Amino acid sequence: MKGIILAGGTGTRLHPNTIACCKQLLPIYDKPLIYYSLSTIMQMGIKNILIISNKIDHPLFFKLFGNGKKWGLNIEYKIQKAPNGIAEAFLIGEDFIKNDDVTLILGDNIFGAIDFKNLSLPKKIKGGVIFGYAVPDPEKYGVIEFNRNKSIKRIIEKPNNPKSNIISPGLYIYNNKVVDIAKSLKPSKRGELEITDINKYYLNKNKLKLIHLNLGTVWLDAGNSEALFQAAQYVKTIQERHNILLGSPEITSFNQKWISKNKLKKLIFEMKENDYKSKLIDFFKKI
Ligand code: TTP
Repeated sequence: MKGIILAGGTGTRLHPNTIACCKQLLPIYDKPLIYYSLSTIMQMGIKNILIISNKIDHPLFFKLFGNGKKWGLNIEYKIQKAPNGIAEAFLIGEDFIKNDDVTLILGDNIFGAIDFKNLSLPKKIKGGVIFGYAVPDPEKYGVIEFNRNKSIKRIIEKPNNPKSNIISPGLYIYNNKVVDIAKSLKPSKRGELEITDINKYYLNKNKLKLIHLNLGTVWLDAGNSEALFQAAQYVKTIQERHNILLGSPEITSFNQKWISKNKLKKLIFEMKENDYKSKLIDFFKKI
């Protein structure tokens, strides 16, 4: 399984924060936003990761992550020339995906308290897998409508009158066919290659699996100032209450047994003094 983090876009809803710095590099309390999506796909067991960004931001992501080797990862980079839509990730990432299945995560999404080992993820991906999350404002997202038997009826992007409060957050798992499906897409009315159209394709073939993220799990999309602030509050509160560090690639890599205890120690002690390091030391003392 390959992983793609989509970290381009324009971030206009966050101007002026995102005029000089892209959204995914803004801080969520004590670390950049993209740390959370990276940690999430690492928790899913994915080590081969492609980061897609704007040309201008690419050196910044490279400065942050390099080739990912220090965390036991292989991180590659590709440029999206213009924000042509989320589904363009599979065209840009075609050479990286090769013959594998692929997980796509949006670089501004934060997932919390999800135990991926206990989610009923299929061993073999036969089509697409999306997640369902209940929100109070479904009209802003891709809304999942249901048949009487609770199977998916359809998915509608930003409907005026949403028929359910279950939306599809920015985490998608597809088999290798997704590349061909993306190639067959036409831009929508808003001029984008839509991820919803990929999901519709799988749905029409009866190959779209929905996994509900239950109460207690957290999904945040840090697309505007209020959401960015709420995300930082969430991270601060949970970290302080449980004395843990969320969204840490170092900890995730250690938990996945991709780096040893000694390697983790080395990574921590190479860091300058800061809150992030202090919390890593707290973690280290407990293992
Ligand atoms: P959005 O939040 O929908 O778009 P945006 O980041 O351009 O923000 P705004 O609406 O405020 O201008 O994008 C969701 C995520 O997907 C975000 O991480 C950016 C990423 N993205 C791309 O990388 N390329 C794209 O073409 C699009 C549409 C989104």
